[in-house]
Amino acid sequence: MSGVNEIRSTFLDYFRKNGHEIVSSSPLVPRNDPTLMFTNAGMVQFKNVFTGLETRPYTTASTSQKVVRAGGKHNDLDNVGYTARHLTFFEMLGNFSFGDYFKERAIELAWNLVTKGFDLPKDRLLVTVYADDDEAASLWKKIAGFSDDKIIRIPTSDNFWQMGDTGPCGPCSEIFIDQGEHVWGGPPGSPEEDGDRFLEFWNLVFMQFEQTAPGERTPLPRPSIDTGLGLERMACILQGVQSVFETDLFKTLISATEDVVGAKAEGDQAASFRVIADHLRSSAFLIADGVLPSNEGRGYVLRRIMRRGMRHMQLLGAREPLMYKLLPALVGEMGRAYPELNRAEALISETLKLEESKFRTTLARGLSLLSDATETLHKGDSLDGETAFKLYDTYGFPLDLTQDALRARGIGVDLTGFNDAMQRQKAEARANWAGSGEKATEGVWFELKEKFGATEFLGYDTEAAEGVVLAIVRDGVAIDKAVAGDKIQIVVNQTPFYGESGGQMGDTGMISTDHAKVIVSDTQKKGEGLFVHSATIAEGGLKVGDAVVLTVDHTRRSRLRANHSATHLLHEALREVLGTHVAQKGSLVAPERLRFDVSHPKPMSAEELQKVEDMANAIILQNAPVTTRLMSVDDAIAEGAMALFGEKYGDEVRVVSMGTGIEGSKAGKPYSIELCGGTHVSATGDIGLVRVLGESAVGSGVRRVEAVTGEGARAYLAEQDERVKALAGLLKVQPTDVYSRVEALMDERKKLEKELADARRKLAMGGSQGAAAPEARDVNGVKYIGRAVTGVDAKDLKGLVDDAKSSLGSGVVLLIAVSDDGKASAVVGVTEDLTARLSAVDLVRVASASLGGKGGGGRADMAQAGGPDGSQAEAAIEAVAAAIAG
Ligand code: ALA
Repeated sequence: MSGVNEIRSTFLDYFRKNGHEIVSSSPLVPRNDPTLMFTNAGMVQFKNVFTGLETRPYTTASTSQKVVRAGGKHNDLDNVGYTARHLTFFEMLGNFSFGDYFKERAIELAWNLVTKGFDLPKDRLLVTVYADDDEAASLWKKIAGFSDDKIIRIPTSDNFWQMGDTGPCGPCSEIFIDQGEHVWGGPPGSPEEDGDRFLEFWNLVFMQFEQTAPGERTPLPRPSIDTGLGLERMACILQGVQSVFETDLFKTLISATEDVVGAKAEGDQAASFRVIADHLRSSAFLIADGVLPSNEGRGYVLRRIMRRGMRHMQLLGAREPLMYKLLPALVGEMGRAYPELNRAEALISETLKLEESKFRTTLARGLSLLSDATETLHKGDSLDGETAFKLYDTYGFPLDLTQDALRARGIGVDLTGFNDAMQRQKAEARANWAGSGEKATEGVWFELKEKFGATEFLGYDTEAAEGVVLAIVRDGVAIDKAVAGDKIQIVVNQTPFYGESGGQMGDTGMISTDHAKVIVSDTQKKGEGLFVHSATIAEGGLKVGDAVVLTVDHTRRSRLRANHSATHLLHEALREVLGTHVAQKGSLVAPERLRFDVSHPKPMSAEELQKVEDMANAIILQNAPVTTRLMSVDDAIAEGAMALFGEKYGDEVRVVSMGTGIEGSKAGKPYSIELCGGTHVSATGDIGLVRVLGESAVGSGVRRVEAVTGEGARAYLAEQDERVKALAGLLKVQPTDVYSRVEALMDERKKLEKELADARRKLAMGGSQGAAAPEARDVNGVKYIGRAVTGVDAKDLKGLVDDAKSSLGSGVVLLIAVSDDGKASAVVGVTEDLTARLSAVDLVRVASASLGGKGGGGRADMAQAGGPDGSQAEAAIEAVAAAIAG
C-alpha cells in the first residue's frame, strides 16, 4: 500500500529524474497576487513566470503545494465532511513547464507516471479534453492508445482552467479512473457524472492565455504547462478506499480524535470526525503561514474553519478545549514534508487552545438559543435572520457555522434577514461615531473602514506583496485617481507596510504598477484598522481598483526590526540591573537609533549602563530564535509577559519572546517576554550588536536610554576607532598606548605649568636667581615695595604679594599687573604688625583712583582693585607711597 508520504515522494522523485527543479510549496497566503485569498493551486507561485513578468533559473518544475479552498473562487468549505472527497486543505502535486514542453510531453509524462510509477490499470483510465482540442485528443490516442470512447470532449468551463477572475488560464485535460460498477456514478459529461464512480485525479492545464479582465484574454508569451494531481485522491485510489477520510493520514487523525474525545467515528458522528480532521489541517497550516484568527479577511475565514471544527468537537462530547491535543498527530504525519508545521507547533497549539476556550464560553449558550429558536421548525423551513445575526454578533457563530448546525435537519437561514440585521448594526455604529466628536477630517477614514473593512497586514511575514487600491485620499477627500506630483494617502486591501504604532515608526517604500511609481514616505493606522500610506506619485497615475505591488524599504525595515527587538532586550536588562521598579514609559524605534524611557529615580551610573549593554549583547550572541504567539492577555501575563500599564489591549495579544535567561530566576527560561505588535528580527543574532550611547533625564523619575544597533552600532564604533587611530597618529604611539601617553603628557604639562609660573614670578619681581623679592624703599620708617609687573595674570598677583610680604617681614607691598589691552589690576598687602595703622583697603583705593578706577576691596592685610588705565601704574605707586607717608 502506498502511504500519503510515499506517494508524494514518488511523484517528486519522478519529476526530478525527468529534469524538473523541485520547488518548495509557497505559503498559503499568496505574496504575488492581490486578489486571491489563499493559494488555491500549485501554479499560483509561478503566475508571473507564466506571464513572462518573472524569470527563474529553470524552465520546468515540480511541487507539492499546500492549498486551501475556503473562500474566493474555489470554496469547498460547506461540503467538507459530507462528501467523500471535499477538503478545505489539500496537497496538490504538480509539474510545470514555463515555455519548455507543451501538450505532448505533458501527456507522456503523466501517462508514464500513472501507468508505470503508480501502476494504475490502463483499462480503467479515461480522460477528458476541451471540446475543440483535437490536438490533445489525438495525442492521448497516440500516447495512451485510447479509443475514442475513452477520450471525452467537454465543452464547458469544467475543462477550461482559471486561477481566478484574472491570471493565466487555458484548456485542460483531466485523467479519471473508473472505480468500478459497485460505486454509483457515470463518466464525465453524463447525467450521472456527479457520482463517485469516475474519479478525476489529475488535471493537465495547457496554459495558453492570460485573463487580464473579465472577457479579455491575451496569449501567453510561450505555451506552458500546469498540472495538478490531488494527493489525497491518489491515496484513495492506491489504497483502494472510497473516501479521502479512509486514507492512512486521515485514519491517523481520526483515531487520534477518537482517543481525545473518547467516542467512535461511527454512524451519525462520523461526519464530525471528518470535519475535525480537515479543519485541523487547514487551521494548522494557515496559522503556520502567518494567518491568525480575527474578524476580518483571511483571519475570519480561519476563525470560521476553527469554530466549525470546534463545534463538532463539542458535538462529540468535548467539555474543554481539545482540538489542540490533535496537533501532535498531524505534526507526526506531515511535519517532515512541511517543516513549517514543526517550527510553528507551539504557536498553532496555543492559538487553537485560546480560540477554543474563548468560543466555548458562548458556544453552549448559542447552541441552546439555536435549539430554542428552531424547536418548531421543520425540514425546508428557515431560521430567521435576526436570530442568526444574534448568534453571529453575540455568540461568535459565523453564519456558515449556524448553517452547518442546521444542515442535518434540512433547515436553512434567512440570509436577507441576516444581512438586514447586519446593516442596521452598522448604521447604529455610524450614528454613534458621528456623535462622538472626533475630528471631522478623520471622518473619511471611518467611512472607508466601514466600507472596506480593516486592511490586512502581511508585514510580519513579507516585505513585498500585491494589493488592490481601495481608496485614494487627497486633502481629506476620497478621489478616484491621482496623477504624477500628487501627494495622496492610499488604502489597499492588504499591505506589508507597518503602520506606526507601539513606538515603531511606519514603513516607507514604493507602490508600483506597470504605469506608475509611487513613493511611500510614511504609513499610519487610521479609523481602527486601516493602514494608510502617505505617498507622492513620482511617475504615471494611480486609480482606485488598480492592482499594485507594494515593496517595503528593506534596509530601513531591517534596522527598525533590530532596534525594536533591542528595546525588548534593554528593557529586561534594565530591570535586572536596576530593579523591577523599572517600567517602560515610552519608546521610539527609528531606523537609525532607538530611545527607551523608563521609570527610575536617579541617573544611571556608567557601570550600570555597561552592565545593561553587556547583558543585552549576551542574548544577542545566543542568536536564539524570536518567537511570536497569540495569547489571551491573562495567559500572557501569567507567563511573565511585560504589558504596559494603562495600555488598552484586545482580548488576544501577540506575545514576543526572545533569548534564554542566563542566571537567577530567569535561567533557562525565555529572557524577554512582551506583549507587542511590532516587527522583530527572527533570531537575536540579527540585531548584530547593541551599543548604549548614554542616558539622560526626561522628567521627574523618568530616564531615557539611547542606543544604536547593527549597522548603526558598527558605524558608531568605527567612528570611535578612527578617532583613536587619529590620536595615536598625532601622538606617534600605538592606539593601545594612547591612554598612558596622554596621561604622561598631562603630568608633564602640570609640571611645566608650575615651572612656568615660577619663572614668571621671578621675572615679574625682577629678582635674580634666588631672590624672592625686589628691593624695598623706606617710606617714613615703613618698608614699601611698589611695582608694575608684566606677563603676570591678575589672579597670580595675590600669591606674589604674599611672597613679597613674607620676605619683607614688615611693610607694605603694591603690585600692579597691566594686561595686553592696557587695563590694570592692583593688589596691596600690609603685614599684620602694620594693619592697625595702614589698611590695605584704603591703600588699594588710592592706587585704583590713580589708575582711573573706583573702589576696591578686601581685608586690612590684603586688598584688590582695578582700573582702566595701566599707563598710570607709576603714578599709582607714588600715590600709595605718599599715602603711607601720611
Ligand atoms: N491549476 C490546475 C488545477 O488546480 C492544475 O486544477
